[in-house]
Amino acid sequence: MTEKLRFGIVGCEVIGPIHAQAIASLPDAQLVAVTDINPEKAQRLADEYAVKPYTTLAEMLAGEQVDVVNICTPSGRHGEQVCQVMRSGRHVIVEKPMEISHAAIEQMLRVQQESGVKLAVISQHRFDPASLQVHDLVEEQAFGRLVLGNAIVPWWRSQAYYDSGAWRGTWQLDGGGVLMNQSIHSIDLLQWFMGPVRSIYAYTDTLAHHMETEDVAVAVLRFENGAPGTIAATTSAYPGVTTRIEIFGAKGSAVIEDDNLSYLHLAREDSQEIGAYGIAHEVSKRASLRSAEGSYTESKKAAAAAAAKRSGARINTSAQNPVALSFRGHALQIADMIRAIREDGTPVVDGQAARHPVEIILGIYESARTHKEVTLP
Ligand SMILES: NC(=O)c1ccc[n+]([C@@H]2O[C@H](COP(=O)([O-])OP(=O)(O)OC[C@H]3O[C@@H](n4cnc5c(N)ncnc54)[C@H](O)[C@@H]3O)[C@@H](O)[C@H]2O)c1
Repeated sequence: MTEKLRFGIVGCEVIGPIHAQAIASLPDAQLVAVTDINPEKAQRLADEYAVKPYTTLAEMLAGEQVDVVNICTPSGRHGEQVCQVMRSGRHVIVEKPMEISHAAIEQMLRVQQESGVKLAVISQHRFDPASLQVHDLVEEQAFGRLVLGNAIVPWWRSQAYYDSGAWRGTWQLDGGGVLMNQSIHSIDLLQWFMGPVRSIYAYTDTLAHHMETEDVAVAVLRFENGAPGTIAATTSAYPGVTTRIEIFGAKGSAVIEDDNLSYLHLAREDSQEIGAYGIAHEVSKRASLRSAEGSYTESKKAAAAAAAKRSGARINTSAQNPVALSFRGHALQIADMIRAIREDGTPVVDGQAARHPVEIILGIYESARTHKEVTLP
């Protein structure tokens, strides 16, 4: 039997325990140590999994035979810790965002090349069945010419959330607000489906929280394939509303709502030709007729409920509560890292793959600051 890979976690508060659950769920993985600068937090997680607690990464690296270290600390600490782990010859899985500045990301990629270890960056929604299906269809060119891609993230985070950690909502350690922390998942999926972003024009603001960084942002994008797109995101939409990623093409369209595929229509599956005015036009014409008769609201509610039932839609708890996370996406991504280590392959989301979403976000900040269109390198 192949030996289990031995994991150590750094950062034991919100997301660290999710990594611990994910590791515990995998037959090929074993948690052996945890580290937190706060000894009580390290002890609590260590007790739960009967492993050894540490208060510094250096002590854990010196004291344990770990194969992989999972970095779950504030975002602006990722670079230094990831490099420290890679220089010790261990593989590393780091939480999103991989880092918050161009310079730190360059350094991480350089050290990864020099050390030859594997680097994976958490973007667990790439492993959702809906994301994989849409990405496969993009690869097959099933949507035809992509013409528009949107990511809409109307989430809610209370002031108490931002006050719960001194690093939250700061430029130095969170690296941004709703974009760098919450929306990076949707931005990563959008660019994974639509391709890289070439240029950006954006507005950001802080409207409903006391914090340094933005709690609302709107960006207009131009993808390298020529299609435009938008990002609209906030953590001030009470009580936290459906996340949507919309992909529109000349031969098909798809909408992911709260991680589930809520709409998919492909020309190649049509048994008869769609007319000159398309389906949406017909539906909206009928809907507006019903509205005029006073029955529209009720029938729309019933149709929405039926559509939600059909698609298996559920409340997106992470739109409202950052702790309400399933460990399953993380488990799939950690399993992908184990595969990459065993086969000497590349993790699905390696450092190069994780870099572009951060570049898009930094481009949005630059455009909002300079009031100019920003072209990405
Ligand atoms: N993938 C996801 O869905 C997801 C969800 C939440 C958070 N995250 C990411 O995870 C990271 C951590 O977020 P969080 O919400 O868990 O933060 P948190 O504040 O809840 O936990 C961070 C922990 O790191 C510890 N810490 C800080 N500096 C340290 C150091 N130098 N050495 C050891 N421990 C240290 C803190 O004491 C704290 O316990 C962030 O980068 C965030 O973006 C990802």
